[in-house]
Amino acid sequence: MKRYTIIAANWKMHLRADEARQLADAIAVCRPPEHTRIILAPPFVYLYEMVQRTASHPHIHISAQNCSQFSQGAYTGEVAAFMLQSIGCKYVIIGHSERRKYFGETDAIVYEKMLRAIENDLTPILCCGEPLDVRQQNQHREYVFHQLQNTLFHLDERQLTDIILAYEPIWAIGTGIAASTEQIQEMHHFIRQSIAEHYGSAIAQQCYILYGGSVKPQNATEILSLEDVDGALVGGASLQADSFCAIVRASAAHRKD
Ligand code: 13P
Repeated sequence: MKRYTIIAANWKMHLRADEARQLADAIAVCRPPEHTRIILAPPFVYLYEMVQRTASHPHIHISAQNCSQFSQGAYTGEVAAFMLQSIGCKYVIIGHSERRKYFGETDAIVYEKMLRAIENDLTPILCCGEPLDVRQQNQHREYVFHQLQNTLFHLDERQLTDIILAYEPIWAIGTGIAASTEQIQEMHHFIRQSIAEHYGSAIAQQCYILYGGSVKPQNATEILSLEDVDGALVGGASLQADSFCAIVRASAAHRKD
């Protein structure tokens, strides 16, 4: 099966409404390579407008940055997966390390969120990745495997076909220092192998594994050329149309049939 390239923008908790509009409009006119799909993940309050605004651009899809682990009910301040689906949102980022760190999201919560997303026809973008001390102790494979074991590997084969994974080493997020291409390829290969051991190599080959952590125009081409990298999840560099579009263009380097 031919894989396309996904370049996703995680705007995190940035941008006023007018800035978000301008950025989305500028990204909408940057011409991606034919096989590239763009995903924009704005804050909740802009989601509906962003869905409407990008509707005439079939290569652009909208993602939430989070959803509730509960289906619906008396959970003040939460946003349910069915609500996201009902406004035309197609994706939702689940288990970002910032959610885990600042909002106490455990693997158990991340798993529940992933189920709510799947039940509501949203594609989860499931994040995993190790902190610096774990990397320094050379325990990163075990750490990420454990995260996947508690979340992804509970899914059955059918559920797994529509999941995007994002490997984001925490020490590379927002630091300006991306993991090296060797480190990235090694972990992506390890993740794909682990999926293959659980579900078979055909499913593992279909799985999208994005890299996130200080992706910028200067390193995008080499990262996106890696064998087991299917795209990027971009934070800081997605807040400027110029740098994000340069990364989108760099996805031409990714050509795997
Ligand atoms: P940066 O690109 O700013 O390192 O952020 C990566 C990230 O967390 C994307 O989800």
